[in-house]
Amino acid sequence: MKNMKAIVRLGTLTAVAIAIAGCMSDKTLPKDTANSMALTQENRINAILANMTLEQKIGQMIQGEIKHVSPEDVRQYGLGSILNGGGSFPFNNKHASPAQWLELADAYFEASIDQSGGNAGIPISWGTDAVHGHNNVVGATLFPHNIGLGAANNPALVGAIGKATAVEVAATGIDWIFAPTVAVVKDDRWGRTYEGYSDQAELVASYAGEIVHGIQDQGIVATAKHFIGDGGTLRGVDQGDTRLTLDALLEQHGRGYQTAIDAGVMTVMASFNSWNGDKIHGNKTLLTDVLKNQLGFDGFVVSDWNGIGQVPGCTNDSCPQAINAGIDMVMVPDDWRALHNNMVREVETGLIPIARIDDAVRRILRVKLRSGLLDAVKPSLRVANSSALIASEAHRLLARQAVRQSLVLLKNNSGLLPLHPHQQVLVAGSGANDIGQQNGGWTITWQGTGNSNDDFPQGTSIFQGISDVVVEAGGKAILSESGQFQNKPDVAVVVFGEKPYAEGLGDVPSLAWQQGHKTDLKLLQSLQQAKIPVVAVLLTGRPMWVNAELNASDAFVVAWLPGSEGAGVADVLFSDSDGKARYDFRGRLSFDWPAIDLNTDNHDAPINQQLFPLGYGLDYSSKHQLANNLNETPVGKVENVDKVVFHRSSKAPWGMLIADAQNPPQMVEAGRAELASGKLSVIAVDFKVQEDARQLTWKSQIGSFNKVFWQSDSPVDFTELRDMDGALSLKMRVDEAATSKVILQMDCGLPCTAAIDITSIVNSFSIGEWVQIAVPMACLESAGAALSKIDSPLVLSADGHFKMTLSEAAVITNVPAEALLICPS
Ligand code: BGC
Ligand code: BGC
Repeated sequence: MKNMKAIVRLGTLTAVAIAIAGCMSDKTLPKDTANSMALTQENRINAILANMTLEQKIGQMIQGEIKHVSPEDVRQYGLGSILNGGGSFPFNNKHASPAQWLELADAYFEASIDQSGGNAGIPISWGTDAVHGHNNVVGATLFPHNIGLGAANNPALVGAIGKATAVEVAATGIDWIFAPTVAVVKDDRWGRTYEGYSDQAELVASYAGEIVHGIQDQGIVATAKHFIGDGGTLRGVDQGDTRLTLDALLEQHGRGYQTAIDAGVMTVMASFNSWNGDKIHGNKTLLTDVLKNQLGFDGFVVSDWNGIGQVPGCTNDSCPQAINAGIDMVMVPDDWRALHNNMVREVETGLIPIARIDDAVRRILRVKLRSGLLDAVKPSLRVANSSALIASEAHRLLARQAVRQSLVLLKNNSGLLPLHPHQQVLVAGSGANDIGQQNGGWTITWQGTGNSNDDFPQGTSIFQGISDVVVEAGGKAILSESGQFQNKPDVAVVVFGEKPYAEGLGDVPSLAWQQGHKTDLKLLQSLQQAKIPVVAVLLTGRPMWVNAELNASDAFVVAWLPGSEGAGVADVLFSDSDGKARYDFRGRLSFDWPAIDLNTDNHDAPINQQLFPLGYGLDYSSKHQLANNLNETPVGKVENVDKVVFHRSSKAPWGMLIADAQNPPQMVEAGRAELASGKLSVIAVDFKVQEDARQLTWKSQIGSFNKVFWQSDSPVDFTELRDMDGALSLKMRVDEAATSKVILQMDCGLPCTAAIDITSIVNSFSIGEWVQIAVPMACLESAGAALSKIDSPLVLSADGHFKMTLSEAAVITNVPAEALLICPS
């Protein structure tokens, strides 16, 4: 890193140390000067290391989560690092101000350098997922997710965004960013597709170095993640298995690491996925032989969130294999204390060689020295006016520019775009005025759910941007998400697409958009039938099979997940009042665009037929007319007959709600909800991966039922599933037996319902044991469910006390033999 910014940070430092801190990667230095400085640097590290006890060394190797680590813990254990996970905030306050972030950062920092409790006094490093701007902080500038930046095809832009993000991160006292993701995404069914820039290694490689410089030149540590092959798993399953030879793995998924390392990236995060069946967190070939020795990476490797616990034979608090394989710092959100004890013992008993510990700590100290942290003053003294840096005018303009550059125009029949602003413009669709939706996952909360426009005081929705332009030109913009209007508008802009998700919760079985419940298509078609020209704007974290929606639109724009500056969309869609385009489209696909929903030959493989190739994208000089007869028949029908209600998250069209008899139901947002009475609560808990199950706790009074249910806006026809011998299946665990009644229902528009008393069944299960129960659709039908119009496929209600965890609810056609079939006569 260069040391410009480091000097600002190093209040108490001598001139010599400043030079040392900044010189390692300064390629302009004569070689022997650089060598001798590196030597001085290594000598200093050795001197620190020589004075550390085993306990202190292991403390440096541990990263806990701020919910589970107090400054007092840091003082006692000398932890090397803390992180705030997605949706974790200082003092548990979602709206914590920059000053409050700084206050907590100061507390950790001061605890870390306080040697009175017996720690080594090494400054702690705080890491955060600032993956599209400083996205955990309310009010920060949020940039388009990486998939949009890929379409912008502009390495310099990405470097500038890295810099702006680092400035905002530093303004809150944080030292380290878990970005860039340099995944090369091969199968777009992956829930993390949008975190990748491209499905091509070259583009990822051309970006990685730029963003690393952008971040690290500000004195903030960057992370290239997730090493390696996260984007290459079979079927695009998150945390799945990447099956390639070593050469192919490096060729297809390693290029971004090389440019990041060349740019001096200081940390690399190990990936959750396996390589040919082996968890990478325990793989020495990849972490040590390849990454450190062959690619020459001399920073440190951090494990992913409880990733060590996934290595066979390991738990979250003990995994000598992972340390021996090359993990230098362990991200272990809550079990860090046990891990510390276990690691000390594992070194003492020879399971982990002390030389490995020394190497890990040397790497951690090297990063702390190079980044300036070892000599830094406390966080609040490093920045002059922190709140002015968050969402500064310059950063917001940069984000808006990035939005403009990322938009890809797939269709513009009869040159409908650009739109003249002096018109009656109907703005419709569920994404039109939803800043949360246009930001996707990793936005304030982990999943990006549970936010309202008020959580983005700095942001503009797409509607807001359109309205500003249109009103200024003397036109009129009318917002109606459902597309209602009184006077026929001149044109309609329909903004629709994916609702926020993150990681495996965003994995999908095919790329079909709204298979089986095409509500967006109906909206587009209804406008076209009313003879209104339609501009579709798709918000999405991945290329989607949208042939039907393309057919039903006159112009079609892919906006990806543009972030907080929604006004960038109107910048390009609307001309000036002379009819001249203000900005042209310059986004080009950095991913292939699918012509079908699934690979026809092999459903495990990525799609092999493209509608638009890589690099495609129209601009205002193109005269291309797209035919309106694209094939609308999905390949994936058979697979998608099953109607999943909940699997890791609630599946469209179903939303999860809770209700009592007195009050209107309330949505379960971000996996959490509680009745005002406290008599029913839902929390997201971990089953196989983070927050993939829901724990339901009833504390009702006998005779007064509270319920959890899934509901859709329009009823769904389940008769086909009855004809295929389908059943409503629940994968669940009883955590506390029911003290009164538990009722399972399927509703078909009140008062139509089928209700089944499952009290004796749930009370027959052992506490803590996972079980599967299945109620045949035919049985629900005889109990009163009108299967052609189901609005709530699952309602669970209880009076009395009861606690259970649900990991899956679905109407399935292949009921496994081990499932308990329920059909009371
Ligand atoms: C993700 C990482 C992230 C980490 C910390 C993990 O679940 O895989 O990308 O950096 O959490 O939030
Ligand atoms: C019903 C809905 C109703 C909701 C609210 C559900 O069980 O299916 O129609 O709006 O409960 O209590």
